[in-house]
Amino acid sequence: MKQETMGQMEQTGKWWQQAVVYQIYPRSFQDSDGDGIGDLQGIISRIDYLKKLGITAIWLSPVYKSPNDDNGYDISDYQAIMDEFGTMVDMDLLIEKAAAAGIRLIMDLVVNHTSDEHRWFIESSSSKESPYRDYYIWRDPVAGEEPNGLRSIFSGSAWQLDEASGQYYLHLFSKKQPDLNWENPQVRKEIYDMMNFWLDKGIGGFRMDVIDLIGKQPDKGLTDNGPKLHDYLQEMNRASFGSHDVMTVGETWGATPEIAKMYSDPARQELSMIFQFEHVTLDQQEGKEKWDLKPLAIAQLKEVLSKWQTSLGDQGWNSLFWNNHDLPRIISRWGNDQKYREQSGKMFAILLHMMKGTPYIYQGEEIGMTNRPVQTIEEVQDIESINMYHERRAAGFSEEDIMVSINTKGRDNARTPMQWDSSENAGFTKGTPWLPVNDNYLEVNVERALADPTSIFYTYQKLIQLRKEHPLIVWGEYELIDTDKQVFAYYRRYKGEKWLVAANMSDEPQELELREKAKEVIISNNSALSLHSDKVILQPYDAFVVRV
Ligand code: NOJ
Repeated sequence: MKQETMGQMEQTGKWWQQAVVYQIYPRSFQDSDGDGIGDLQGIISRIDYLKKLGITAIWLSPVYKSPNDDNGYDISDYQAIMDEFGTMVDMDLLIEKAAAAGIRLIMDLVVNHTSDEHRWFIESSSSKESPYRDYYIWRDPVAGEEPNGLRSIFSGSAWQLDEASGQYYLHLFSKKQPDLNWENPQVRKEIYDMMNFWLDKGIGGFRMDVIDLIGKQPDKGLTDNGPKLHDYLQEMNRASFGSHDVMTVGETWGATPEIAKMYSDPARQELSMIFQFEHVTLDQQEGKEKWDLKPLAIAQLKEVLSKWQTSLGDQGWNSLFWNNHDLPRIISRWGNDQKYREQSGKMFAILLHMMKGTPYIYQGEEIGMTNRPVQTIEEVQDIESINMYHERRAAGFSEEDIMVSINTKGRDNARTPMQWDSSENAGFTKGTPWLPVNDNYLEVNVERALADPTSIFYTYQKLIQLRKEHPLIVWGEYELIDTDKQVFAYYRRYKGEKWLVAANMSDEPQELELREKAKEVIISNNSALSLHSDKVILQPYDAFVVRV
């Protein structure tokens, strides 16, 4: 992008281009009433902590009424709060208290599907003649079987037979998550009205769950990026959030930079940004499932992230993340969660937070939480892992291989309770936690992190602060530096200023040639780092940022 365009963008900059978002998975964040499940009052009690970290927005995973087949991603009432989490009064209070701390609340919008316990689906399945029948996707059997071979993302067929009517309904996730029929204008209107209900409460925007699926054409076997997807998003923008100063971020697993521009080019009036997932699929075998593992090639990571950094220009905006509630913990995944837990945690933070885009921190990432290994399937709660286990066992995979996949990629890894202190259950609950706390909580917890000025927490805090102070981080141009494959290094340039960011992504020392003199260290995770000669030795997982 040219300097002039950048200047322009900065002038017209939106709050969300300068925000750092913190994702809360409410079930696992903080319990206030001893039922072992996190809740809204628990979140309210931790707002001061989030303020101290410096984040300016929260993405709240679903808190709506739900039978919890998929931990709240199966919604039975969009305008009511899940019993375990509290009430609408608590929700209003959370919005208010967060606002008072300068934090906006981004709600999770799950409108590809509802729960099968949603009023619409109960009506829809009551009879073929119901006015709600067409809210969902019903099809007759073909030759006495499923209408076609579409598969659920949670294993098995995506079609479920309804004995009473003899028809099948579509569910791209669990059979308790029937897909809504977006071709029905009445469905779309109900959704926009519901969005306006939330916008009127003063929320900061929406994170849109699997939004790339809403234009599906199931009869053609087409699920993502369907032909009407962008028409729907433009209509949604006009009918709801377009007139509010909010941010929207779409979850779009199959997005390429070209597709990303369709969503987030400001001229198209769709979304603020999307989550692209190309980098988090690099340790998965080509054309296979996420469970089919292969080692990460750092060269590929550099290539993919750099491509995203440079290709959107002013026709889009990146979101930056390593973690969320569906992904394993980054330190366990591509770092070292034993000897170099702290050092690799800080390295990932520096590497990502110096990039261009809006960074997202997933709860616990800021204290270096790690995966929690399990021995048997009985210890697993996540529906995706459980369904995969049964499907693969039946297909002849070994128990051992499946458990390796689950321990590497299973979603429970990121969902263990937040580790607050060294008291029982890490201060998460006074009851029995719905999912066990990671055994390492005595070492890894917020209380300890806050007491140690060299902890990962303070690296995150400083990175957030730097972003607030330096337009270079928000707006600067990005350029990858060609280095040895284990070192990820890039420049950021803005209005005559130039920063060098470098990270050793390995367990071994690495050498980096310094082409320019380092004028000032902006941040580093190694206080002994020497930048005086033209060669820098980066110890395992060292990372630094210097002005050159
Ligand atoms: C994506 C969400 O992030 C995930 O947790 C959920 O299971 C699916 N969408 C279905 O809603």
